[in-house]
Amino acid sequence: MACAFLPIIDFGAYLDPASSSEKRLAVAHEIDKACRYPGMFYLTNHGVPQELWDKVRTCAHQFFQLPLEEKNKHVVASYTRGYWHVGPEEHDNRGEGIAFHPPVNCYSNGLARKADPNSPSARLPTSPDALGDQNSWPSDEFRAVTEEYLDHVLRVKDRVLEAIATSLDISNESLKRMQNTSMSATINGYPASAKGEAEQRGINLREHADSGCITFLNQDLGAASLQAQDREGVWRNVQPIPNAFVVNVGCVLNKWTGGQYIDVIHRVIHRLEKPRVSVVAFTNPPFDGIVEPLPEFAELCKGQAKYAPTTFGSFLLKQIGDYDGPLES
Ligand SMILES: [Fe+2]
Repeated sequence: MACAFLPIIDFGAYLDPASSSEKRLAVAHEIDKACRYPGMFYLTNHGVPQELWDKVRTCAHQFFQLPLEEKNKHVVASYTRGYWHVGPEEHDNRGEGIAFHPPVNCYSNGLARKADPNSPSARLPTSPDALGDQNSWPSDEFRAVTEEYLDHVLRVKDRVLEAIATSLDISNESLKRMQNTSMSATINGYPASAKGEAEQRGINLREHADSGCITFLNQDLGAASLQAQDREGVWRNVQPIPNAFVVNVGCVLNKWTGGQYIDVIHRVIHRLEKPRVSVVAFTNPPFDGIVEPLPEFAELCKGQAKYAPTTFGSFLLKQIGDYDGPLES
């Protein structure tokens, strides 16, 4: 059964070239409403081929079943790339994952090009890539499947942002800024719980909001492990629906809209007697791009420190620094 907390939005009518502008606008308004609250929704008929939708998770299951020493070959010196593993002795953040992020070499000599050189946040590591070592792909097949999958998600992302821009009635310039985003991915593996031990475990992935613009989650079917917080602070289960993305607003989209869209807080508590895989695709602005409210929403949040301009890179690195575990759901 679906989670009544989240709306289910059929994207087919928006993607269908034969749809009327009224039908498309109706879908855009549904997305806009969901982004305002609860900041998360299901997206069906999104156009990602079924075989690829399943295969990306199958590749992940196969990788996570490898011996730890094999998986550890893909540990790299980066918080946003490579393999990690936590537990089983730890109660929180128990799980494993492998992450992929495009190159971030837009900085020279550790200084953000567009940042105020006198600002401490403008100064970054002098590594050629501000996020550390590059991706480590487990196999050619894993890479081919994941990259093809992300290409599809990228197209869905652009259409969802286009729908949002239509509903918000923002300028083409603002839409271009929103669509100037690239994809990164984290693939999470949560271990099965043995009978009787479920109550002894803590949270697998503690509460957080995603740092980027908008997130597309493809998760295994089964009992709800992902939970989202409602406006009363109550945790709501997000039951997986076959072939449906769970889409959520991240901190950047919250900021662009001056707080009109909610960067929903979520966490993972996995209690099934079988492992869970989730493939999480993020959309991120350029690393040295300034993130601030779009002109259409600047007045709404004027003077509020939360909405002060910052480079995405410095914001991301601060979030990584504030967080000692994997960032994704
Ligand atoms: Fe997340």
